[in-house]
Amino acid sequence: MHRFWKTVTLPLFEAIGAHRVMEIGSQSGAGTRKLIEYCRTHDARCHIVDPFRPPGYVELEPELATVGKFHEALSINVLPDIEPCDAYLIDGDHNFYTVRKELEIIHDVTSNKAASSASSHGPLFLLHDVCWPYGRRDMYYQPSNIPPDHRNLWARLGLDLDKDELVDHGGMNQHLAQALCAGGNSNGVRTAAESFVSDHGKQYRFYVIPILHGLGIIIPSKDEQQPYGKIVRELCETTDRQRNLLELAERDRLKLLVKLSSIHGDTAKPIA
Ligand SMILES: C[S@@+](CC[C@H](N)C(=O)[O-])C[C@H]1O[C@@H](n2cnc3c(N)ncnc32)[C@H](O)[C@@H]1O
Repeated sequence: MHRFWKTVTLPLFEAIGAHRVMEIGSQSGAGTRKLIEYCRTHDARCHIVDPFRPPGYVELEPELATVGKFHEALSINVLPDIEPCDAYLIDGDHNFYTVRKELEIIHDVTSNKAASSASSHGPLFLLHDVCWPYGRRDMYYQPSNIPPDHRNLWARLGLDLDKDELVDHGGMNQHLAQALCAGGNSNGVRTAAESFVSDHGKQYRFYVIPILHGLGIIIPSKDEQQPYGKIVRELCETTDRQRNLLELAERDRLKLLVKLSSIHGDTAKPIA
């Protein structure tokens, strides 16, 4: 997700005037470092949530402490107790159960903003992996974190383009626990985003940038005419021809990633 920073995330943060920002899923810390820098230069605060500290945390921690906090936890366990934010980067556990819950908790926390200093706009949600492979398929970093009733059947096997089922040999992300089949109404990050938006009537709008595994953007419908809402529309309201071209380029990129993973194992690290 950090690869969207310069073209999408930063312009949106600046346009919404984000003073409180959250990153769910830090991993290498690449996005976290950008958030810290943003907070330093924009008089903002950040919350970073991940059950694991990023590499180099010892050096990062003093810098982070001046502008925010690292919550070493699963998102849904701590979100209810963190102050409301103006913008949320959602890139943690890539499955329907977790993402649907994250969105609902954030909705509740931000709807009750009376005691907060969060701005009157937003919340802005940026969700990574709303396209292939995890838009319509669950992935579980730790399957036992998901209640069995809410978990799809899964295996640690690879993925191939155009195949709903996992493949026995090769394929992408062979080391990760992923749903045996794609599709259905409780499978994948995009399905969770759509379910959230649909369950809240016309309160939110959902947009997709269909490259780099897909970036989903959810904003309150009332903000569509705000400067940041206009940037979202500029980024996402492509013509059909432009969208077809983006999807074509992404498909070629994915084909190469699958091929590389099949040859070298998972060294291509496609989900960051
Ligand atoms: C795809 S990586 C994040 C990449 C990062 N956002 C970036 O742009 O470089 C996913 C991260 O989410 C973390 N994670 C997994 N389950 C989580 C959960 N339930 N809550 C928060 N973070 C979670 C993993 O430990 C991993 O570090």
